[in-house]
Amino acid sequence: MPAWLKNAVFYEIYPQSFCDSNADGIGDFNGIISKLDYIRDLGCNALWINPCFDSPFKDAGYDVRDYKKAAPRYGSNDDLVRLFEEAHQRGIKVLLDLVPGHTSEEHEWFRKSKEPVRNEYWDRYIWTDFCFKGTGNLGYPYVGGEADRAGTYLLNFFKCQPALNYGWLDADEDWKMSCDSEAAFATREAMKDVMRFWMDQGCDGFRVDMASSLVKGDDKKKTGTSRIWRNIREMMDRDYPECALISEWSDPKLALRAGFHCDFLLNQPGEAYSTLVRDYHNHTDRAIMSDPYFTGMEHTLPKYEDHSFFKMDSGSDIRRFMDDYLEVYEDTRKCGYISMITCNHDTVRPSFNMTQDELKLFYAFLFTMPGVPFLYYGDEIGMRYLSIPTKEGGYFRTGSRTPMQWDGSENHGFSKAEKENLYLPTDPAWDAPTVEAQSKDPDSLLNTVKSLLKLRSEHSDLQADPNLEILYVSRRDLPFVYKRGKRILAVNPSSEIVYANIGTPDRDLLWSIGSGTLKDGTITVGAQSFVIF
Ligand code: NOJ
Repeated sequence: MPAWLKNAVFYEIYPQSFCDSNADGIGDFNGIISKLDYIRDLGCNALWINPCFDSPFKDAGYDVRDYKKAAPRYGSNDDLVRLFEEAHQRGIKVLLDLVPGHTSEEHEWFRKSKEPVRNEYWDRYIWTDFCFKGTGNLGYPYVGGEADRAGTYLLNFFKCQPALNYGWLDADEDWKMSCDSEAAFATREAMKDVMRFWMDQGCDGFRVDMASSLVKGDDKKKTGTSRIWRNIREMMDRDYPECALISEWSDPKLALRAGFHCDFLLNQPGEAYSTLVRDYHNHTDRAIMSDPYFTGMEHTLPKYEDHSFFKMDSGSDIRRFMDDYLEVYEDTRKCGYISMITCNHDTVRPSFNMTQDELKLFYAFLFTMPGVPFLYYGDEIGMRYLSIPTKEGGYFRTGSRTPMQWDGSENHGFSKAEKENLYLPTDPAWDAPTVEAQSKDPDSLLNTVKSLLKLRSEHSDLQADPNLEILYVSRRDLPFVYKRGKRILAVNPSSEIVYANIGTPDRDLLWSIGSGTLKDGTITVGAQSFVIF
């Protein structure tokens, strides 16, 4: 386990929209470099950059055409290496996004794999042995009629993303290769080669896309897929012990045992994506907002609906989240870390249904929980989810991918390009939040996040490892009180002062939003407050 994860706080950057240094309307590596001081001063010490490799961008870069080439629109490989170096000089780690489950249909491997005559890459993807064979009955989407090769091929996600071949757990038909086949091993080795390529140049590890999707026909425990990750983890432990592996798996019990250092707490993508398509076309935004996958961990900690725990007077029961969480936490705390997010490039921004005051309480909770937290760019100022047309396969997700709002100048300081040439429009609202405005306001969301992250960095009790213990939780009554190491923390999202008897000795306040005391065994927490003793 790389020791730096113990006090890591990640900042997720969607490179298209962060900072444009060359006025072409789209963000780039040099833009990110120019904002590294900002990220460090905010209190984040690690980055996750969404895929920044050569791609036709039919899924915003999750359709990789060349794993070893930076997308020219962001800069060159040398620029990316300079980004690693500049980040390291500031004590910031950089994780790239590894997409191991599929490539773009334009990847050289796939072009070769499509050819009618067997060649080196014929088995790099999953092909059936008949041009009219469907695989829908197996639960996998497929494409037919697009290749001269007389077979159909499996998809991992969109139509542009053919599934790489890591084999099948149970290869019960002739065309299915075993996950122990040479072809399956060759795919794994090819992916390790990609990882080595970037880690050798200074990258500090990977966020892994759809990490559980590799072996087809896998069992519930993901036996086949886990074997692959354990093999990859061995390579990392041996050759890159300081590099981190973080999964988009959303099942920490399996993912951390499969070798990941951290796993995101999201929800299972399967059903959600079909719901997404239906809802997007019906323009029923609300239904999407309540879809568990796209609201991240909040399936049990509802954040976007009016019953979100952190919404003032929602009356929501935090045990709906905590019961599940604690079970996973207890089961996995010796194996690795749970990662909670403010949101990500696939989910609706948390400001969608929360005020800045409510967000402060949510973030205070998020950044004082065990594990390794992630802040999505712009959430530190409460950037809004915008209702805008889709771009690069984003569909409704596009609304969470708009340009970072740095200041009050043209294009909010994101780019010097003409407005109509921007990758996506900026927030047109007169009161669009900006870094510049919030920096000047001591009470802003931005300054609250800074203060919280400073606190976390100065108090090891609030970092990844120290024990979490619940001191007071009730279905109806607030506050919610918990302990990290020696620290006692309490949150009260309601508009009334609340009390709880926790029977501990008197303590002074260490940090707070709002007010509170701990005296004579009673903890008192003011309205809309978060307190740490
Ligand atoms: C999950 C990524 O986060 C999402 O943006 C992408 O569309 C799919 N995986 C497919 O790679």
